Amino acid sequence: MNQTHRIFNVVGARPQIIKAAALSRALREHYAGLLEEVMVHSGQHYDRNMSDVFFEEMGIPRPAHHLHVGSGTHGRQTGEMMRGMEDLIRSENPRLVVVYGDTNTTLAAALAAAKLKVPVAHVEAGLRSFNKYMPEEINRVLCDHVSTLLFTPSRQAEINLAREGIVHSGEEPFDIDHPAVVHTGDVMFDNALYYGREDTGDSRVLDRLDIRDKPYVLATLHRDMNTDDPGRLQAVMGTLLEIAEKEKITVVIPLHPRTRKMIAEFRMGKSTASSQWFRITDPVSYLEMITLEKNARLIMTDSGGVQKEAHFFKKACIVFRKETEWVELVNHGTACLVDASPEKIREAWDLFRDQNNLDFPPFYGEGNAASLIAGTILRFLERGKSS
Ligand code: UD1
Ligand code: UDP
Repeated sequence: MNQTHRIFNVVGARPQIIKAAALSRALREHYAGLLEEVMVHSGQHYDRNMSDVFFEEMGIPRPAHHLHVGSGTHGRQTGEMMRGMEDLIRSENPRLVVVYGDTNTTLAAALAAAKLKVPVAHVEAGLRSFNKYMPEEINRVLCDHVSTLLFTPSRQAEINLAREGIVHSGEEPFDIDHPAVVHTGDVMFDNALYYGREDTGDSRVLDRLDIRDKPYVLATLHRDMNTDDPGRLQAVMGTLLEIAEKEKITVVIPLHPRTRKMIAEFRMGKSTASSQWFRITDPVSYLEMITLEKNARLIMTDSGGVQKEAHFFKKACIVFRKETEWVELVNHGTACLVDASPEKIREAWDLFRDQNNLDFPPFYGEGNAASLIAGTILRFLERGKSS
């Protein structure tokens, strides 16, 4: 009889829960009895619409362990998570720990596991913005350097890893010093294909926001560089408002709690609340979000995930950042970096507003990333070697 290998699937922030849904689905459908998934939630995101809603809607198993760490400064939050993860790894004894992306949850789980000599599998390895003022850049670089299995979503990610000396080890068994770099494509593409079918999205959101069959722009904003600097926050929100009023086009903004808090703190709420063209709403569910993405005229965002979903759903994307990890999109010309510059935002709007025949090549794999990841993990564990 085959042995069942216990693995931790670690989530904490919204995009990780969404990414974990893809692996969780692949594990249930094809690896039951071979890989035992133990879902662990750090508690980094905790509002219902930032966490629970995704478990319910995407059919993800409830976390077997919840650290309830909550919000805090980087050091405090990461430290609390490391303490909790260390205790959990010691008591549950997983054979491998899967982490996603670049949040404090990713870093905490990766460091705790690596120091306990439990191999780390990093989903979304190799992405780089080359801007270490982003907390995410620090998290992803450190995580990659303690991982044993590095799953890359894009070809550029492999190149980035090679530049740092992280290349696929020719010799098995893999370990922390001889890692495996495996190009799988992006689990978010798996999700976009799976949930993006005609019969899935939740189109009631279009009625709730009174935008069914009407043109609208979808915008999200949550990066600390944009929210915590009143000048940048005002520049982006003010320019969105100006475009909405001038062009008489609705701008839908599912507002991240961080941004809502900072808009209140900087007392910017009045102008945005008073425009008939602004639809500011609480964060929406994933199925609502992809409905909004699919039906938008174009998308404006500083989110990593939303940039790619714009691509998956064939929408031009204006990115409120100086640089991006998803360079293929910018090089190809369907995404445009505008920083927080009103002039650049207006120029990009003029460029993209009426573009209907852009093409969107398959940069992020074939939609089977989660199966490739699960298969690689199983083969690695079957060889019976830990880092
Ligand atoms: C985090 C990640 C970021 C990711 C984003 C996804 C880090 C360093 N940052 O940023 O990479 O893109 O998640 O959304 O890990 N808050 C609530 N309710 C919640 C969660 C947060 O009110 O459920 C508020 C709190 O005031 C908190 C603030 O949002 O202080 C920021 O949350 P935090 O998780 O620290 O960072 P994010 O900006 O969400
Ligand atoms: N998302 C969502 N509801 C929202 C906003 C975003 O479900 O109100 C989804 C979005 O579709 C994508 C993911 O959250 O799958 C992106 O997460 P986020 O922007 O918080 O973080 P990032 O990707 O920048 O790390």
